[in-house]
Amino acid sequence: MKTRETWGTRAGFIMAAAGSAIGLGNIWRFPGEAYEFGGGAFLVPYLIAILTAGIPLLLLEYTIGRRYRSGPPSAFRMLSPRAEGIGWWQNAIAFFLATFYAVIIAWAVCYVFFAVTRSWGEDSAMFFGVDFLAASEDPLTFGEYRPTIMAALIGVWVLVLVIMLGGVRKGVELANRICIPLLVVLFGVIVIRAVTLDGALDGLNAFFTPQWDTITALETGPEIWLAAYGQVFFSLSIGMGTMIAYSSYLKKKAELSTTAVTVAFANSSFELMAGIGVFSILGFMSAQSGTAIGELVGVGGGVAFVTFPAILNEMPGGNFVGVLFFASLVVAGVSSIISMVIVPFSSVEDRFGWSRKKTVAVIGIPMALFSILIYPTTNGSSMVDAVDFAVSGYGLVLGGLATIVLAFATGKIRVLAAEANRTSVLKLGWVWYVCLALTTIMLTLVLILNVKGQIEDLSDPEIANELIYINWGVGGAMILFGLVMTAVMYRRPLPVANSEDGESVDSGSATA
Ligand code: TRP
Repeated sequence: MKTRETWGTRAGFIMAAAGSAIGLGNIWRFPGEAYEFGGGAFLVPYLIAILTAGIPLLLLEYTIGRRYRSGPPSAFRMLSPRAEGIGWWQNAIAFFLATFYAVIIAWAVCYVFFAVTRSWGEDSAMFFGVDFLAASEDPLTFGEYRPTIMAALIGVWVLVLVIMLGGVRKGVELANRICIPLLVVLFGVIVIRAVTLDGALDGLNAFFTPQWDTITALETGPEIWLAAYGQVFFSLSIGMGTMIAYSSYLKKKAELSTTAVTVAFANSSFELMAGIGVFSILGFMSAQSGTAIGELVGVGGGVAFVTFPAILNEMPGGNFVGVLFFASLVVAGVSSIISMVIVPFSSVEDRFGWSRKKTVAVIGIPMALFSILIYPTTNGSSMVDAVDFAVSGYGLVLGGLATIVLAFATGKIRVLAAEANRTSVLKLGWVWYVCLALTTIMLTLVLILNVKGQIEDLSDPEIANELIYINWGVGGAMILFGLVMTAVMYRRPLPVANSEDGESVDSGSATA
């Protein structure tokens, strides 16, 4: 039997896991979310979500991966024969996430070049929306292709597939060993520059002052809590089987608990750093323009591509900082997207015994083509928004919920705790169970309230219904895929290589 490839070193796995976590979510998404939900109002639910949901779920995924040593579908099947579809559903989420994530990396690639001459000119919002994206209003009407974005996107996919071809050690691990240290340096320089700007302090105050009433109010609360959980799941790369896939390449004796804490800590440090950087800059901008921080236009999702360039114009040495900033987006993005692509890759390799070459040809290339044909278009950026919301607003949170429910419902949660504790420094016990159970309740509540909110939005003329339809369409398609795969795969036993070190450990009943 072929032995499973493993990570070269403990540091290699930590870097890969941190590389997955630290990504566009930290630099592009987090400051935007924090800004949208009023800075300080966001931070409290965010921290609560990390401690009670993020770290416990990270540990759960690590444990499942290391125990069953296979991609999500096979791993879930070993938990329960009927649960294989959850893994395939996560494949669908990974497909949509990776295909739009690549586009944002491609935007950043273009912006590295723009930064050299600050070619966005005076009005960076206009440049981004009109000159660069040529964004059309209607997300569903297919517009025209944007050749520059498409060229960059092709480059991104070639790089990703080359890394994947290298396998675990020579591909993923090596890429992360280069990306992470590079990122720390690039980003360190920017943050230091940002906090030394005039007005930085006002920005930081807006970021760090909690607003309790917004968090607890019934009109605003549920949305903020879902956004915070969504952000934490997105940021820590949980809920989609990524960490199951990564930890399936761990050695059986690998330590898990301190690894999870280290990764979560590294990720949040980066996120807070990005927040500090961006809010300092917002403070600077508000001091320059006399506008209140909450009212700066063109922020939200456009922090990275609109607000940032505007500030670079004002800043001495802006070209240099700009190149560093967009390069760090690219580096952070690449080390994350490979952890999304690994989900379908490990899934088919472990379930069907495919070689890496075959997987690249049959899964990797079509995935890249879908991304390249759909997104570098004039309606691409609205598609990105709609799909992002389906993936991170619902998909990941539901995926995480399903993982927890399954671990409890199959009664395997104790087996898993024992499995983790076999090598863990911090022992998993009732605190872990309580956190996971609490997360289940919290997520169920938040999800119900949000769907209710969306249904109400349907009759609001201000809100484009298309976005809600895309949201539900994509969400529904992903779940449907999971159900179909459950039916198709139910009678097919797991390959021997897998069932021998996994299935027989727990039950053996899965081989129908
Ligand atoms: N965590 C990454 C970020 O912050 C994105 C990411 C990578 C991800 N792999 C994932 C998100 C798996 C969810 C699931 O940008």
